[in-house]
Amino acid sequence: MQIHNLLDWKTHLPTLRQWKEEGRIRYIGLTHYTPSAYAEVEAALKAEAFDFLQINYALDDRAVEARLLPLCRERGVAVLCNRPFGGGGLLGRLRNTPLPGWAGEVQARSWAQLALKFLISHPAVTCAIPGTGNPKYMKENAEAARGPLLTDAQRQQLIALIG
Ligand SMILES: NC(=O)c1ccc[n+]([C@@H]2O[C@H](COP(=O)([O-])OP(=O)(O)OC[C@H]3O[C@@H](n4cnc5c(N)ncnc54)[C@H](OP(=O)(O)O)[C@@H]3O)[C@@H](O)[C@H]2O)c1
Repeated sequence: MQIHNLLDWKTHLPTLRQWKEEGRIRYIGLTHYTPSAYAEVEAALKAEAFDFLQINYALDDRAVEARLLPLCRERGVAVLCNRPFGGGGLLGRLRNTPLPGWAGEVQARSWAQLALKFLISHPAVTCAIPGTGNPKYMKENAEAARGPLLTDAQRQQLIALIG
C-alpha cells in the first residue's frame, strides 16, 4: 500500500501501520514524481520507517541518484522506478541512435530494454514499472529482467550518450 505523492502522509501513516500489524497489508510505501518534492520525501524517509519508495528515475531523469537512492540503500527501503522512459520521451530521443556494441552481451535488443536494465542495475533499485497499453511492448519490457545486469562502466556509457 503506497501513499500517493505524499498526500496527507502523516494522516494516513497510522492507519497503514495498523493495517500492517493486522496483516491486511504487507508493505507500506511512499510515491512521488518530481524533484520539487524530493526534500519532503527525504525528510519523510528519515522520520519514519517505510518499506519502499516509488519515484521517477530514468536515464534522462537522474536527480534521485544524488540523495534519495543512497538514503534508500542505507535504510533498506526498496525502490520502484516510475516513468522509466521519462513518460516515453527518452525512447523518442533514442529512436535513431544505434544500440551500443555490447547490447547483445547483456541480452538487450532495444533501447527500451537497455533503459530498464540501466535502472535495475543500480544497487538501490528493486524494480522498474514501465507503462504501456501495447502487449508487444509489455513482453519486450518484461524480457529486460532477463540476462546480465549492466556494469558500472556500461551504465556510465549510457549516461554519456544521453548527455
Ligand atoms: N507515483 C507517481 O506519482 C507516478 C507518476 C507518474 C507515473 N507513475 C507510474 O509509473 C508507471 C509508468 O509511467 P508512464 O507510463 O507515465 O511512463 P513511462 O513508463 O516512462 O513511459 C510510457 C511510454 O513509453 C512507451 N513504451 C512503453 N514500453 C515501450 C517499448 N518497449 N517500446 C517503445 N515504447 C514503449 C509507452 O507507449 P504506449 O503508450 O504506446 O504503450 C508510453 O508512451 C505507471 O505505472 C504510472 O502509474 C507514477
